[in-house]
Amino acid sequence: MTSLIRGGIIVTAEQTYRADVLCAEGKIAAIGKDLEAPSGCDIIDAGGQYVMPGGIDPHTHMQLPFMGTVASEDFYTGTAAALAGGTTSIIDFVIPDPEQSILDAYRTWREWSQKSAADYGFHVAITWWDESVHEEMGTLVREEGINSFKHFMAYKGAIMATDEIMYNSFTRALELGAMPTVHAENGELVFQLQKKLLAEGMTGPEAHPLSRPPAAEGEAANRALRFAETIGVPLYIVHVSTSEAVEELKRARAEGQRAYGEVLAGHLLIDESVYQNPDWDKAAAHVMSPPFRAPEHQEALWKGLQGGALQTTATDHCCFCADQKAMGRDDFTLIPNGTAGVEDRMSVLWHHGVGTGRLTMNEFVAATSANAARIFNIYPKKGCIAVGSDADIVIWDPAAGKTISAKTHHQNIDTNIFEGMRVKGLASHTLTRGALAYVDGDLRAVRGAGEYVKRPAFHASFDALAIQAAANKEKPVDRG
Ligand code: URP
Ligand code: ZN
Ligand code: ZN
Repeated sequence: MTSLIRGGIIVTAEQTYRADVLCAEGKIAAIGKDLEAPSGCDIIDAGGQYVMPGGIDPHTHMQLPFMGTVASEDFYTGTAAALAGGTTSIIDFVIPDPEQSILDAYRTWREWSQKSAADYGFHVAITWWDESVHEEMGTLVREEGINSFKHFMAYKGAIMATDEIMYNSFTRALELGAMPTVHAENGELVFQLQKKLLAEGMTGPEAHPLSRPPAAEGEAANRALRFAETIGVPLYIVHVSTSEAVEELKRARAEGQRAYGEVLAGHLLIDESVYQNPDWDKAAAHVMSPPFRAPEHQEALWKGLQGGALQTTATDHCCFCADQKAMGRDDFTLIPNGTAGVEDRMSVLWHHGVGTGRLTMNEFVAATSANAARIFNIYPKKGCIAVGSDADIVIWDPAAGKTISAKTHHQNIDTNIFEGMRVKGLASHTLTRGALAYVDGDLRAVRGAGEYVKRPAFHASFDALAIQAAANKEKPVDRG
């Protein structure tokens, strides 16, 4: 399949310039002024629009079994919705049960993800530890293209990673050239506060943010960063939601640590007042962890993104419908945690980022695509408009607008946290490896068309280890 995108303005993380883009066999084959269309080639008119790398959402949970239920969005519906919003790749999470082989869990998720309409990769969570986990981390990195391992510092009694697990796993990740990532919340503190609030009779969603104060996130971010510093491994903190965690990242980076932070579109734009909604269903629909925060945190997150403490934007797309949320009607700790957004992230960030002058267009591409590709080592295959890159492209109409609503979205969930938000700037066309998957409201996602993307280990780490090992073997030289 060959297509020529004609007349648009290319926007990458580095450059903005007018050129045509020729896509052939899934790749970008040529970029230039007034390219000639090969015979039989589809012509896509991008006049007046921007041609950008398709979005990469580095944090989704399609069909996740979690808190006694299963997320309602599967790999097909979720990636199709992503394509409708201009996102062409996701990185989802394999979350093994404690004691489950991490390799078996990975195979299960690979099976589930066969139906994806867009490309995808996986982070693998380390929820327990023994020698087999140590071994299988190696197999995942060397044979399966996994280069990041997730640690939930919260969810005590379920999937929480203790300090001991983190120490072992971070150390192993360093050996393998892989990146540890953390959900930074102090799980013990959350657990104790949940018990206290329930004992005081606070059972509704308004107790959820009280059980997960900003300090619990700040402490965990600091602890994870100090572990990473001591062990000498990079660290990526998912869904940073507080000024406390942003400050920890700034400090670590200023001290030379390779530390990265991700922010969710929801945390940038929604505040904790949603938990005060007297309509239980509406309040419960916003129960996710970390929770939505007071407005001053949103300001800190925007500044973190603008100032470089935070590099990526994600959604933590994890859908639970009203009947699932109702599992926690009498006890807020039983409300399945999760909200959606994979379809809306790009337009919401364009409108509130580029549209307000907080982000340049190039910074938008960095924050929605290129930085995730770089950090997770799939650049320039993804996250880039360059000859040889995958033809994962969004054609962006800056003049188009819509009002976001659960009534019209493609996501398989009955609410939308951005309900009623008017956004200007939308995907008009989305191409996944050269195939048109979305054209002006017409979603053409193909079940199973998505490919698993292997992510190589970080060779820099391998090189550093090799140099270190060689240095250790060398006899001290007597220079006297
Ligand atoms: O509430 C959330 N975020 N649910 C998904 C699991 C996680 O913590 O990322
Ligand atoms: Zn999390
Ligand atoms: Zn998550």
